[in-house]
Amino acid sequence: MCGIVGYVGAREAAPILMEGLRRLEYRGYDSAGVAIQNGHGLGVVKLAGRVHALQERLAREPLCGGTGIGHTRWATHGAPNTRNAHPHCDCTGTIALVHNGIIENADALRAALERQGHRFATETDTETLAHLIEDAAGATLEERVIAALTHVDGTYGLAVVSATEPRKIVVARQGSPVLLGIGENELFVASDASAVLEHTRSVVYLDDGDIAVLTPGEYHVIDGDSHVQLRSVDDIAWDLTAIELGGYPHFMLKEIMEQSETVRATLRGRLLFEQGTARLNGLNLPPEACAAIQRIVIVACGTSWHSGLVGRQVIEELTGIPVQVEYASEYRYRRQLALPGTLTIAVSQSGETADTLEAMRAARAAGSRVLGIVNVVGSTIARESDGGIYLHAGPEIGVASTKAFTSQIVALVLFGLYVGRQRDLDEERGREVVRRLTQLPQLVSRTLALDPQIQALAERYAGTRNCLYLGRGVSFPVALEGALKLKELSYIHAEGYPAAEMKHGPIALIDANMPVVFVVPKDEVYPKVLSNMREVQARGGRIIAITSEGNGDLGTLADQQLPVPATLPLLSPVLTSIPLQLLAYHIAVRRGCDVDRPRNLAKSVTVE
Ligand code: F6R
Repeated sequence: MCGIVGYVGAREAAPILMEGLRRLEYRGYDSAGVAIQNGHGLGVVKLAGRVHALQERLAREPLCGGTGIGHTRWATHGAPNTRNAHPHCDCTGTIALVHNGIIENADALRAALERQGHRFATETDTETLAHLIEDAAGATLEERVIAALTHVDGTYGLAVVSATEPRKIVVARQGSPVLLGIGENELFVASDASAVLEHTRSVVYLDDGDIAVLTPGEYHVIDGDSHVQLRSVDDIAWDLTAIELGGYPHFMLKEIMEQSETVRATLRGRLLFEQGTARLNGLNLPPEACAAIQRIVIVACGTSWHSGLVGRQVIEELTGIPVQVEYASEYRYRRQLALPGTLTIAVSQSGETADTLEAMRAARAAGSRVLGIVNVVGSTIARESDGGIYLHAGPEIGVASTKAFTSQIVALVLFGLYVGRQRDLDEERGREVVRRLTQLPQLVSRTLALDPQIQALAERYAGTRNCLYLGRGVSFPVALEGALKLKELSYIHAEGYPAAEMKHGPIALIDANMPVVFVVPKDEVYPKVLSNMREVQARGGRIIAITSEGNGDLGTLADQQLPVPATLPLLSPVLTSIPLQLLAYHIAVRRGCDVDRPRNLAKSVTVE
């Protein structure tokens, strides 16, 4: 949720840290700060607000030096003000550190440290780490960090510098991602590859329990007993254009508009036309394992949970295996039923969402095989899974998830197709799904061409205070997702409901001021949804219908229609969700909201 960056090398650290923070700002954006070794001590500057405020401050009061760390914060402990911004220091100002994660025993540690005479300057859990390191025994900074961390319960991605050990950064990871960027005689630390990509594509992903020691041009990784750990150097698969705006006013719009290409990327190399199935090399699910599956549990949060709901219907349809979809945050604290033949699938764009990760671990502890459907390569969920499917959608910078959602659905269809064909899905049906999947990128492009109509709609509805989204079958999760997009971006209250459930309560809300968005592609429940639309029409509600091209029978039922190309009903969410993303985006822009960084939100929720 927060972002970490660090640099040690021959160049000035400050501009590199600031550029890294700018790229990480989507992870958290309530305050930012840097600490730089300047030859005789540490210079620390931090500020509440956005990274550009810090940048302006550093332009007026530069910090010089070739070693430093930086942070952009999303507050958990303590208000989002300058005092609580990272880096945090010990009593002497000799040690400075930046931290992602949560120190769970911070209150107890703080009380003990205060009794010993430490003076705390902030309300944060992180500051306890600085004081623990101050007191810890050890000849080197890494020894002191290791000793300090033995007292800590919780999660951390941590980068520490000390005035007494120039040209060195010590990094530690437990439950919060950190990677090293390997340059020519220079090294970088980051919580996310986008912060280092400008300088290097070679990265080392640290594992939980790793401590890394960085000096100019040299690094080594050790464990808590100071034993050297060998970690591979990986290549980042995408380039800088993936994290640039490329002429778009917002990342969200860029990511929506990229979806034809990202859907294609999720499909690339995975369709076997003749056999009517999918090739999913990373799944690690041989035919006998497919045959043994008796039940599938999908765990996810937010938008990924919505794609899981679509996945339920798709997988049940293609495989005949019962699927249960769980909010990861609820599932992790329930009793896990150790039912034989259970396969658990964690769906996550970031691969770092704390609740999803813990739900996956709980499922594994109960004996389930676990798979990950993940976008971020090398993320914790990807690495802890027994197998999985990468989305290959490229970095998603906009805080509201868009392209990951459509790619998650495609990946879940591929999964259903593969497992279905290993069971009793016939070859002909398999070929039909493959054929329709092949057409999808082009159909996405045609759907995106609705943008001018959607802008006009946004103009009309930008002032609304409430909005209801209704759908049935696979379109119900699309309705949920449409409502989530509108509320998180524009702060308009919006609710998604199964269309037929409306008459059991929400119908009371309907009047001439209530826009109702129906997601109503041509599928088996289409005639039923028409009846639900009539119920809204009869009560004066204003209807926007996301429907399939050629649905002439909608007639005058809807005030506005947005027709998407026809496809298999199971694939329709990939198309019907796009007008809802655009509608939410354009309404939010018209209301003057910060679409890429909605208030109170952060990308990648790595705390409970
Ligand atoms: C909403 C959104 C969130 C995420 C959720 C899970 O637009 O982005 O609801 O979907 O926080 O995140 P991941 O998919 O990274 O696990």
